[in-house]
Amino acid sequence: MVSAPLLVELLGPWASGADPLNEQLAASIARAIEVGLLPPGTRLPAERELARELALSRTTIVAAYDRLRLAGLARSRQGSGTRVAARRPGLYEPYAASPIEHTDVEQPIRSVPRSPSGNVAFDQPIGLIELSSPVQEAVSLTIGALPASPRVADAIALALREDVPGLLGEMGYDPYGLPRLRTGLAAHMTRQGVPTDPDEIVITSGAQQAVHLIASAFGGPGTAVAMEDPTYIGAIDAFRTTGNRLIPIPVDPDGPRIEVLGLLAGAAPLRLVYVVPTFHNPTGVTMPAEQRRELVRFATELDIRVVEDLTPDATLGVGVPPPIAAFDHEGDRVLTIGSLSKIAWGGLRIGWVRASRPDIDRIVAAKIVADHSSSLITQAIAARVLDDLEAIAAQTMQSAAERRQVVTSALAARIPEWEWTMPEGGLALWVRLPDADASAFSRLAAEHGVIVRPGQLASPDGGYRDHIRIAYGTAPDRLVEGVERLATAWAAYAPTARRPRTSLAVSV
Ligand SMILES: Cc1ncc(COP(=O)(O)O)c(C=O)c1O
Repeated sequence: MVSAPLLVELLGPWASGADPLNEQLAASIARAIEVGLLPPGTRLPAERELARELALSRTTIVAAYDRLRLAGLARSRQGSGTRVAARRPGLYEPYAASPIEHTDVEQPIRSVPRSPSGNVAFDQPIGLIELSSPVQEAVSLTIGALPASPRVADAIALALREDVPGLLGEMGYDPYGLPRLRTGLAAHMTRQGVPTDPDEIVITSGAQQAVHLIASAFGGPGTAVAMEDPTYIGAIDAFRTTGNRLIPIPVDPDGPRIEVLGLLAGAAPLRLVYVVPTFHNPTGVTMPAEQRRELVRFATELDIRVVEDLTPDATLGVGVPPPIAAFDHEGDRVLTIGSLSKIAWGGLRIGWVRASRPDIDRIVAAKIVADHSSSLITQAIAARVLDDLEAIAAQTMQSAAERRQVVTSALAARIPEWEWTMPEGGLALWVRLPDADASAFSRLAAEHGVIVRPGQLASPDGGYRDHIRIAYGTAPDRLVEGVERLATAWAAYAPTARRPRTSLAVSV
């Protein structure tokens, strides 16, 4: 149960503009549900109680709850009030800052950090897809990850047969991570040009946990953290919800403009800089080696740590510059985040951090608080995946390249006025929509059954309002369908825009 005062606190300032209050209230509650602040099963306050708290009429609350029910976000049962509905598959976004479960079991709700505007820290606009009562299953172009290949299934079977029985005799907790996996990852990092000892690795539950642990262990309320603008949405969430102050660094075709760091450092005492140097999410840009060297030099001069997130890179180091840590000759300036999510499978939830031993200890202290230890079973599987990583990564890169081809051909054919730079890796396109408000367009696209992320979600200061992020991990036929729906939505949004040159002819 969320009490009326807590709900009001969670929503922050929700009423502005001329839209009817019941609509605005429903939209605000929907947003809280969408980002996981109100998990499925949560009982919403009684209408009368919320009306009193908000000093509104009960009719307004009834109308708002009706909207949520119509949109499938809430349900009511005689005697048990109105509850947040279980999520429908396909509409869940993995970067949500709180765990969301497909369950009706009520989960505890706590108050959350607020941004200076007074809104909750998750107050970024999101596509209110459910409010439009979609009649068709939405195509989600938000997840930059692929399904597992059969080789991953083989690794799972092997680990369950050969490794897990032996683990069952142990206590089952290891906050640093399974030694065999840490040894394998140390060798993996060493092969990429970063000599690494197994003690310099900690295993995390995906790269997202690594970012979050670093954000809390090395940053914290009021800490100035520089990050690329745009950047990975989940990193914005992690740094922001741990209270850090986000300082945007512009990104150009050579990666972040690191000379800006010098200017920023004069204005704010920076402690960390977070970058995604290879196949940057969302632009796809790769930072050249010289820039990486320069970044370490700047960071040393300014006495700040660099956090490099290599998650989107599935090349295993072939054809891309070495990690930034390779230029950190003292070995204590750079923390490197990696993950098996894009290379092998996100369902493993295996990420890691490579850093100096004192820094690893600091992260482990935060990890113990967060979850004691990642699952030993998935770590055993990950170690087997690592043994076959070259073949798995080759398949991944081939699938990603095929999908990139499908989505870019479809977009070029159907919406020629949209602009993007062809990325060489990763699984996302950063697209500029001429003269458009990407948030409004994303909402309209949702009504047409396709979900994309508006650019401002990927911007630490809410810029890029004319961009969208299109992730293309989805199956090729769904990608084509998604682009079709985007084209229909675009025609409705910008009826005077140039029409397609050709009809869609894409091989899938
Ligand atoms: C740059 C970056 N970091 C971290 C993550 C999260 O990865 P994981 O699934 O391993 O938590 C992603 C996922 O899209 C990403 O692009």
